[in-house]
Amino acid sequence: MFRPRVLIVKDPSSVAVAGADVVEELITERPDAVLALPTGRTPIDLYRELVRRTRLGRIDWSRVRAFNLDEWVGVPADSEASYASFMNEHLYAHVNMPATHRFIPNGLAPDLDGECRQYEDAIESVGGIELAILGIGRNGHIGFNEPGTPFEVRTHVATVSADTRAANAYSFPGGDPPSSAITVGIATIMLARRIVLLATGDEKALILRRALEGAVDVSVPASVLQRHSNVTIIADERAGSLLPRPVSER
Ligand code: F6R
Repeated sequence: MFRPRVLIVKDPSSVAVAGADVVEELITERPDAVLALPTGRTPIDLYRELVRRTRLGRIDWSRVRAFNLDEWVGVPADSEASYASFMNEHLYAHVNMPATHRFIPNGLAPDLDGECRQYEDAIESVGGIELAILGIGRNGHIGFNEPGTPFEVRTHVATVSADTRAANAYSFPGGDPPSSAITVGIATIMLARRIVLLATGDEKALILRRALEGAVDVSVPASVLQRHSNVTIIADERAGSLLPRPVSER
């Protein structure tokens, strides 16, 4: 078992800055890096910071490839609620990553299982993911791998739990997200050479402690990260408040 590095910083903006440092350093070192990217509330500040640095000429995305972790089933890419729209709004419209380098599962594919296989193939064909950036659900999910999902699964169609649907209701006009989504699997995430998980706010404090300090078990999907040798958790003081002691103070 490995111990993830834990970086506790003051607030959500500091989480964004620390996360952006990791991304900027990686792209500077490896201009053709392959990323896995999350959506949700947590990474919005990170993307804003990355866009700011891009405008300053510090990040060149022209050779970077990025795979989103997930997309809703049945939501057209051009709908405001899709994760494709989210990525355009917060990152892709503002950086020079070619459209052919941006991958998001197609939640409208007639053959969803085939779409999942193709997504895995696309990840493999570029040599796998160098850096996966994750958020964490209140129930410990990563991507849309909900509690109970076997650690061995690759990209698949997942059933989204009632809690996760409630947490995402804000981004749907009728407040009613779909009950399924395509998600990169836990096994796919674990094959990333490096993982950074971002967490902010009180509502993530308990689950972060369970994920990092509790047993590794499918009931808390993020606990699997204890089995990866290169994980950094970047949490603000609120999300990190129940962790025993930040590494920086040890
Ligand atoms: C979304 C994703 C999810 C979110 C998680 C936290 O692409 O992969 O696992 O990271 O639901 O969402 P927020 O950041 O909205 O709390």
